[in-house]
Amino acid sequence: MTSTDALVVGGGIIGLAVAWRSAQRGLRVTLLDPDPGRGANHVAAGMLAPVTELQYGEEPLLRLGIASNERYADFVAELTEATGLDTGYRRCGTLAVALDADDRAELREVHEFQRRLGLTTQWLTGRECRRLEPMLAPDVRGGTLVAGDHQVDPRRLGRALVEVCRRAGVTLRRERAAELLSEDGVSVVGARTEDGTALHAERTVLAAGSWSGELPGLPPEARLPVRPVKGQVVRLRMATVHGPLPMPFLSRNLRAVVRGCHIYLVPRADGELVLGATMEEQGFDTTVTAGGVYELLRDGRELLPGLTELPLLETNAGLRPGTPDNAPLLGPTAFPGLVAATGHHRNGVLLTPVTGDAIAAFLAEGRLPAEAAPFTPARFTPTISEFTR
Ligand code: GLY
Repeated sequence: MTSTDALVVGGGIIGLAVAWRSAQRGLRVTLLDPDPGRGANHVAAGMLAPVTELQYGEEPLLRLGIASNERYADFVAELTEATGLDTGYRRCGTLAVALDADDRAELREVHEFQRRLGLTTQWLTGRECRRLEPMLAPDVRGGTLVAGDHQVDPRRLGRALVEVCRRAGVTLRRERAAELLSEDGVSVVGARTEDGTALHAERTVLAAGSWSGELPGLPPEARLPVRPVKGQVVRLRMATVHGPLPMPFLSRNLRAVVRGCHIYLVPRADGELVLGATMEEQGFDTTVTAGGVYELLRDGRELLPGLTELPLLETNAGLRPGTPDNAPLLGPTAFPGLVAATGHHRNGVLLTPVTGDAIAAFLAEGRLPAEAAPFTPARFTPTISEFTR
């Protein structure tokens, strides 16, 4: 039997950030994952987009996203300083464009909504959009430039977080959690691994992404309301476009409404171009389908006609941990000893710094910082007295 201050179940970038920040506060931390650094981040494009991801009714999530975005430059600088590893962070901004008249009307409304919230966003004509991104199709009708929505490379970020955890003294156990351990049916005291080892901990942090509602050990009606939302993506290799002046195929994140469908493209400094993403309620299925890839490439080519000339590197599918209100589950649960750091849905990469800080603060001081307080699982899960009645 092993005992520790904090046991983090799940080693995607959220679990790793929680483990790192907790170890920095002097806690003894064990992290449980068969392949740390390769969660949903392995598929994610890595847009850091609190403004251009904003949906109606998600203002509290916007504030959390902005807080995390503001921390990103320092977060990755500290990671690189500690590990020597680059994270691919680029302060490139995001252009969101519309293809036809209906798409333009939709984007215009979103732009007005952003402005009412006091966000920095600039309306551009189609010509102005093409001046910024000359490979855009001539039909693009207009768009918004959001200078503060950037990008990071989630795969590089995962590798850097594994390395920084190792250096910070986190015990990385490359095993899967089989169940949560409970003392009296309600207090969580650790987890059991697949080979039967019991790992005891003062606090257990559930950071298992889409699987966070699946882990046995709690009464089924008390599990966290997390479900998988499938996203397929395509990775391409950009070439420099040769003309009077060589120029990049795409300079900044590009989002688009294309005849009512939503896509995005994230161009990295190393030439990789990520095109995403489908939103599918298919349970834990991660099959890449011909239809999913077809729709992404079809809409991508309408937007950037040169796209289908690019070499295809990879197609894959990941699972976003969705919640009923699209916002994460952060902090104490109804179960003494069990802390949530999950349910980040479309914003896991963006919310990594703020989640690491908030959960580490909670573990070390017993108090959740103000920006994370609206996101406790209490908004969905019954209290212990309710479900034991
Ligand atoms: N944040 C982009 C996505 O989830 O597809």
